[in-house]
Amino acid sequence: MERVRGMKIAIDGPAGAGKSTVAREVAKKLGFLYVDTGAMYRALTLKALQSSVNLNSESELIALLNRMTITLRHEPGGQRVLVDGEDVTEQIRSNEVSKHVAQVASHPQVRRSMVEKQRQLAQRGKVVMDGRDIGTHVLPDADLKLFLTASIEERARRRYKELADKNPPPFEVLIEEIRMRDKQDEERPTSPLRKADDAIVIDTTNLSIDEVIDYILNLVAQKWDRGARTHGHL
Ligand code: DC
Repeated sequence: MERVRGMKIAIDGPAGAGKSTVAREVAKKLGFLYVDTGAMYRALTLKALQSSVNLNSESELIALLNRMTITLRHEPGGQRVLVDGEDVTEQIRSNEVSKHVAQVASHPQVRRSMVEKQRQLAQRGKVVMDGRDIGTHVLPDADLKLFLTASIEERARRRYKELADKNPPPFEVLIEEIRMRDKQDEERPTSPLRKADDAIVIDTTNLSIDEVIDYILNLVAQKWDRGARTHGHL
């Protein structure tokens, strides 16, 4: 696997489909950079909430984005997210941020600015990037595009577990919040959540994280084998 020189892997799908866990592990196994694009939108949302910026105002959000720094720092223990140098890795996962992030991510100019940063991060090629519009818009030339899904009940169950020690809302409320977020992500005019035509769908409802990771690593290996045969340097 080490011989894979450059490969861009795009992983899209709705909230709770298991994208980030899977993307992080696949990147680790391949020695690739992992870029969690949702974390970037979450970081802006957190800062906007803290600064009492009107989340409906695109210009206020852009002004805020231009004067803040978002850093994805890669450490052996996982990715840390920094806003203006402060570690906000845990804070950006709060339910408050989750509830508002789709609204922030719906603004076209906010997206344009984020996409620019994301493409820069993907430039060196060995990258696994997860989000909603990676295969369709950010990296349309990705070598491997995956679309992860799971039933809404299973996604809510996973979210509930994630929030277990953070006072989670009732399960039914979580389902409703996920449904709302799906709707906002799927119906926004700019780069909605959509499967790319050439993406492979993986339904993770009844699969363990390890099964999904193995499946993806197999796809990568197959791609690599095919590439090596085509170019004659096995
Ligand atoms: O994957 P996540 O739950 O951390 O994403 C947070 C929100 O950001 C989600 O509502 C959709 C949005 N998002 C997006 O619009 N485009 C991306 N590439 C990544 C996330």
